Amino acid sequence: MLVENIEVVDGATLGKTVKRFTERHIQLPTFAQLANPASIPPQNLSFLAQLSKNTPDARNLWRVHWHNQLSEADSFASVPEHVVIPPAMSGVESPIAVVFGNRFPMIGAHKVLAAYACLVPRLVTGRFDPTRQRAIWPSTGNYARGGVAISRIMGCRGVAVLPENMSRERFAWLEHWVENQAEDIIRTPGSESNVKEIYDKCAELSESEENLIFNQFSEFPNHLAHYEVTGRSLERVYRCVAGEAAGVTEESGSVGALRLAAFVSASGSAGTLGAGDYLKEHHGSKIVAVEALECPTMLYNGFGEHNIQGIGDKHIPLIHNVMNTDVVVGISDAATDGLFMACGTEAGKTRLRSLGVPEAVISSLRHFGFSSWCNLLAAIKTAKQLKLGADDLLITVATDGSELYESERPRLTQARYGGRYGDADTQQAIDQHLLGATTEHTQVLDEVGRERIFNLGYFTWVEQQGVSVEDFVARKQPDFWQELHAMSPALDEAIVEFNARAGF
Ligand SMILES: Cc1ncc(COP(=O)(O)O)c(C=O)c1O
Repeated sequence: MLVENIEVVDGATLGKTVKRFTERHIQLPTFAQLANPASIPPQNLSFLAQLSKNTPDARNLWRVHWHNQLSEADSFASVPEHVVIPPAMSGVESPIAVVFGNRFPMIGAHKVLAAYACLVPRLVTGRFDPTRQRAIWPSTGNYARGGVAISRIMGCRGVAVLPENMSRERFAWLEHWVENQAEDIIRTPGSESNVKEIYDKCAELSESEENLIFNQFSEFPNHLAHYEVTGRSLERVYRCVAGEAAGVTEESGSVGALRLAAFVSASGSAGTLGAGDYLKEHHGSKIVAVEALECPTMLYNGFGEHNIQGIGDKHIPLIHNVMNTDVVVGISDAATDGLFMACGTEAGKTRLRSLGVPEAVISSLRHFGFSSWCNLLAAIKTAKQLKLGADDLLITVATDGSELYESERPRLTQARYGGRYGDADTQQAIDQHLLGATTEHTQVLDEVGRERIFNLGYFTWVEQQGVSVEDFVARKQPDFWQELHAMSPALDEAIVEFNARAGF
């Protein structure tokens, strides 16, 4: 059984969990509330003005959604904060909405949502015992941080398993958040694309019953949360941008003439791509999966190292609905490194100004981490490849912001620019990678292309990880995903029941 039922499997464990949550006053938000924070009862949010979103406090569970504001505020934004990249910057007529993930609490990235989504079903069904077990969070960075944060505020012990060469900022954060630095941060060999090494470590850890692995690449609630929560949140962005374009208010419900043409997302675990399933189902938009050109698993069945931290793991995640994917795009880390460097400099900003890019857009670029640049570039390539026009909106996400990568600037200056980074490098990055983006390394998938990518997953999941062929193949059918998407009401009911037992 790939997707676990929402049924209590161990009443005694559930009882212990309820007791812990009662003692610690931990109340769980439902998926429906995270999808639409306006539905959260105001009395649950009276803490907002007093509690920083980065404090380890269970009440910050109410902030695990897309509607936080950048500043500490006593209310949520009615529409997730985003920037619309204009033609002057993208070189394409289609507007591109980039929605900011660094508004999420505690880790400044939306991966805290994936972590919550994976832990909560296990807790409310008695599958995880927070009084005795450790939650193991394997990832190349943000998901492990999300897992550690979520574990901590939910009274569980969390352990991060991540490659030793990830950015210094990630480790500094973990050192601050884990219960025991020596035991709860496990460094595996390599960097971004060394996921096999993470799996191997997890296999070793899972031999002890004390450890429960939350593998984001195969935990279907990761997909489900993005379908339900991210999908609906991005839909609100679509309505807002379309309404603004048509000069109508969001409340009128009209989307004017702007069509939602595509949802673009780089794939790490492929969780975020779940939002694409929701948007496609409701608005007919295409789903664009993006990867690093230096590790082109989907495009070329290739392999390699790259610096687009958070994505591209040399395999096809089990939770990727490959047969529903429409386009695959490869983006070079030379482009993401180049734009990250360029747009952090005064010369870069001056160049953008000279192109007519509005000041508000320029200043929002600090909320772009490497994978955000990757997503934007992939959206531009998609618009060119699909010949999209001014009435076609593309939506993508900035999973995290530049603040997580400041230590990369001196490192890249040495590694890429021979120790001297200058205005000519800035000019070149903007001209070549942004304005000069081409349709190279872009594939519109037909059935053969989809099957090729789908089948590649066999080697990871069936051969290495022991998934049965029947379970693996079941994911080819739309029914499998429809049944999964229909599960959130049952999960929400279990959450409500759990809260009631815990005294809420
Ligand atoms: C910075 C960053 N970008 C993109 C992704 C990919 O998101 P997903 O795992 O939902 O595919 C991740 C995942 O950890 C990430 O940390």
